[in-house]
Amino acid sequence: MSDAVLNQFTQTVTEEKKETGRRFKIGIIGTGWIAESHVESYLQMDDVDIVAMADLIPGKAEKFAARYNKDGKLDNVRFYPSHKELLDNEELDGVSICTYNMTHAECAIYALNKGVNVLLEKPMCVTTEEAVEIMRAEKASGKIISIGFQPRGDENMKMVKKIVQSGELGEIYYIQTGGGRRRGIPNSTFIEKKTAGIGAMGDIGCYSLDVVLNAIGYPKPLTVTGYTSAFFGTNPKYNNPADAARFNVEDFAAAFVRLEGGIVLDFRISWAMHPDTPGDTIIFGKEGALRIPSTDCWNGSMSGPMTIYHDVAGEQVATVIPLIENKGKGLFYKKCRAFLDAIAEGGKAPIPTSEILYNQAIIDHIVKSAELGREVEVVIPEI
Ligand SMILES: NC(=O)c1ccc[n+]([C@@H]2O[C@H](COP(=O)([O-])OP(=O)(O)OC[C@H]3O[C@@H](n4cnc5c(N)ncnc54)[C@H](O)[C@@H]3O)[C@@H](O)[C@H]2O)c1
Repeated sequence: MSDAVLNQFTQTVTEEKKETGRRFKIGIIGTGWIAESHVESYLQMDDVDIVAMADLIPGKAEKFAARYNKDGKLDNVRFYPSHKELLDNEELDGVSICTYNMTHAECAIYALNKGVNVLLEKPMCVTTEEAVEIMRAEKASGKIISIGFQPRGDENMKMVKKIVQSGELGEIYYIQTGGGRRRGIPNSTFIEKKTAGIGAMGDIGCYSLDVVLNAIGYPKPLTVTGYTSAFFGTNPKYNNPADAARFNVEDFAAAFVRLEGGIVLDFRISWAMHPDTPGDTIIFGKEGALRIPSTDCWNGSMSGPMTIYHDVAGEQVATVIPLIENKGKGLFYKKCRAFLDAIAEGGKAPIPTSEILYNQAIIDHIVKSAELGREVEVVIPEI
């Protein structure tokens, strides 16, 4: 193989951007589990002041701040009982929205309408209609909204895109993606429709869609045949009885999705099942295929080397792409930093809604198709 071909797969470590010389006033909406990664990241940055926090649960934001206020950096934080009071009373450069899925849209729209830039946790929201409403507010505000898919900063995920975009696999025509856990049902707010809206798809499925859709440039989904089930989450034999009684989202989903450009996407995601895996992620191209090994915790991370299957000099060979070690700061830091750098530079959102809209539309149409028991056309209202 020529050097030019080999060199396109050698590791490149992207330097993190330097801090910008301005100060950012940041608010945190929702002070649960994922908010920790946002606050820990901002606290490492000299140009950020976390000035406000909100949570619906009385006293939760105060306790949360006390836990992270090791060197007095959070002494002056103001606390609010919901996103509305926070956004009505603060002048902010940006907010991290770390609430459960069901309040993503209302918080993001309220913030954008107040002229505040938004870093919104994944999944973008629950329905296609909510995603469209968020994008309308984004358009009207002229502000940045970036969706919190931190695996985009992983050098291995960048390599997937680089391989596909290099043309090494030829034209892509079929993709199987997904993965998940043999047993790994979360508890907390993740398992009820009233807070999460969706189950395994919103927790981990959105990542496996993002890995492959990002690599192929996020073509529009056209039709979806979806299936969802909840045989494990609702069963006290496999879930603790209290959680089984309130469990009402999917613990497994599968779909056959037609994308613009003639590409077919075959998707499976699981929080619980009997087999060890629903399969690796494989991108099929006319000149080669890329296999990405499944992990037992499909959160966008990669557990082992990828393999390219192709013909070289008329022989069928496999080229192993070693796992790349991520250097420097962690992925959560990079996610928050990229958001701030985009604000400072007046640039485009690092992970734009125009892409994640299609991720959300696939998930939402899987739900719709599963309810109807047939294929559905993907309908996305005008933005
Ligand atoms: N990027 C990641 O790796 C990652 C990991 C875990 C969770 N998440 C995402 O983060 C989100 C939150 O997950 P979590 O585990 O932290 O949930 P959580 O239930 O622990 O925390 C959410 C908090 O938001 C608060 N809240 C809800 N609506 C609010 C509102 N309108 N105003 C103020 N506070 C509000 C709730 O009271 C709760 O304390 C989910 O969307 C999840 O998908 C992302």
